[in-house]
Amino acid sequence: MAKNDDNLLKKIVSHSKEYGFIFPSSEIYDGLAATYDYGQNGVELKNNIKQYWWKAMVQMNENIVGIDTAIFMHPTTWKASGHVDAFNDPLIDNKDSKKRYRADVLVEDHIAKIEGKINKEVTKAAKRFGDAFNEEEFVSTNGRVVGYKEKISSIEKRMQEVVDTQNYDDFKKLIEDLDISCPVSGSKNWTDVRQFNLMFSTELGSVAGDASTIYLRPETAQGIFVNYLNVQKSGRMKLPFGIAQIGKAFRNEIIARQFIFRMREFEQMEMQFFVKPGDELDWYEKWKEKRMKWHKALGLGENSYRFHDHLNMAHYANAATDIEYDFPMGFKELEGIHSRTDFDLTAHENHSGKKLQFFDPQENKNYVPYVVETSIGLDRMFLAVLSAAYNEETLEDGSERIVLNIPPALAPTKVAVLPLTKKDGLPEKARELIDELKFDFTAQYDEKDAIGKRYRRQDAIGTPYSVTIDHQTLEDNTVTIRDRDSMEQVRVAMEEVRTTLEKSTSLTELLRKI
Ligand code: GAP
Repeated sequence: MAKNDDNLLKKIVSHSKEYGFIFPSSEIYDGLAATYDYGQNGVELKNNIKQYWWKAMVQMNENIVGIDTAIFMHPTTWKASGHVDAFNDPLIDNKDSKKRYRADVLVEDHIAKIEGKINKEVTKAAKRFGDAFNEEEFVSTNGRVVGYKEKISSIEKRMQEVVDTQNYDDFKKLIEDLDISCPVSGSKNWTDVRQFNLMFSTELGSVAGDASTIYLRPETAQGIFVNYLNVQKSGRMKLPFGIAQIGKAFRNEIIARQFIFRMREFEQMEMQFFVKPGDELDWYEKWKEKRMKWHKALGLGENSYRFHDHLNMAHYANAATDIEYDFPMGFKELEGIHSRTDFDLTAHENHSGKKLQFFDPQENKNYVPYVVETSIGLDRMFLAVLSAAYNEETLEDGSERIVLNIPPALAPTKVAVLPLTKKDGLPEKARELIDELKFDFTAQYDEKDAIGKRYRRQDAIGTPYSVTIDHQTLEDNTVTIRDRDSMEQVRVAMEEVRTTLEKSTSLTELLRKI
C-alpha cells in the first residue's frame, strides 16, 4: 500500500475497530478525545512488540537490566527534570471560534500549504515534460518554486528564533504577518500566545489543604534516573550499563490527533545507558545503529525509516536524533535517541542532596555518569506495524481480500485450526491439535462459515498460518497448512505443524538478525 495516502489512515482506523485491535475509549459515551483502548487482537500485538523490545534490550544485553517504576513520583522529580518550568507548548486562542491552537502548529500548517503549492507545480511540470522531466533540476530552477522555497525557509528561520528566545509577542506577530486565519471561524482575531504546561496534575492526600499536587509522569525516564543508584548498587553494575523500562506516560497534548500517533495517555519503551563521561558520543552512534537494526529486522521496508538529526538541541543534550518512520501521514518521529550528558543525574543530585555517582576503580575517583537514551513510543510502533501490514489485494479470481502482513513473530494469533465440516469427528481432531499447540502458541479454533470465509477472517487479523482438518486427516493424520501471504497450501503430517510454527513465528529468528 502506498504511503502518504490520506485514505490509508482512515482505513486502518476502521479496520482496527472492526477486527478488535483498537477501540475509541469509553465509546458508549461518545469516546474521550485522543484516548484509545486496545482490543483482543490489539493487546496481543502490543504485547508481542513489547516482548521483541524487552528481549532485544534486556535479555540480549548482559549489561542492561529492566525495572518497573511508579507512575506517581515525588513532585520535586519534575522540578529537577525541568518539566515543571519548561515542558510547555505555546498556545493561541481564536476569539471568535473560541478554539485553541498550538501556535507552532498553525505556522507549520501554513508551511505545509506552501509545500502543497510546490508539489502542485511539480506534478503539473511532470505531466508537461513527460519522460524528460528532471524534478531535481525543476525545483532548483523554476522561479515560482524557488520563491516558495525561500518563503518557507524565511518562515522557519523566524519560528526558530521565536522558539529559541521564547518571545511569544513575536510568535503572535509571525502569525499575524503570515495572515493565518482560524480554520473554524476564518477570522484573524487572535489572543496573545501563552505557555501551557503539558503535565497532568492531581492531588495526593485526603484532607483538603494537606493535599499536595503531584503529576502523572510525562516520560518513564525519570523513574530510571531516580533509581540509578539503587540498581547500580543492588546489581553491582559497572559502567557502561543500561536500565530499561516499559510503561505509561501522560501528556496533555493540545493537538492530539492522527489516531494513536499522538495520544494523551500512551506507552513508552525507554532505556538509559550510563557511560563514562567522554564516551557518550561513541555510544550514541552505537545505539543509533543498534536501534535502526532492530527496526529493520522486522522487514517493514528498508526505505521506510530515516534519521532526522536535531540541529537545535535542548540545552542539556550534546547530540540527538529521531528515527522517523514513513507513516500514512508521511515521515514522522517514531523513536528518539539522545545523548543527555549528566544533566538529569546532576539535577537530581542538586534537588535531593543525594550523591548519584559511580566509583571508577581504574580512575580511582567518583563521577556522575553521562547518559545515552533510547526512547520509543509503543503505540507509534504499533501504528507503524499496522500501516506496513495493511494490504488490500485483488486475487487471481477477481475477488478481493484485506490481509494484515504482520511479521509472524508479532502476529496476535499464530495459527488458526479449522475443521472442514462441523461433523464426522473433525472438530474433535481440531481440538486435539489446539490442545497440543496452545501451551506455546496463540491458536484460534473456528468452525463457522465456509472455509474461504474463515481464511479471510484470519487474513484480516494477520494470522500467519491456517491449518485445515479434513477427512483425510482422520485416515493418515495429515493436515493442510495455508500460508497467509502466498495463500499456498501444503499437506503435512500433523506433527509438522509445530515445527513450522516454531521456525516461522518465534521471536528467536528475529532476535538473531539484530
Ligand atoms: N524521555 C525522552 C522522551 O520522552 P520524547 O521524544 O518526548 O522523548 C519519546 O518521547 C517517544 O515517545 C517519541 O519518539 C514517541 O514515539 C513517543 N511519544 C511522545 N509523545 C507521544 C504522544 N503524545 N502519543 C504517543 N506517543 C508519544
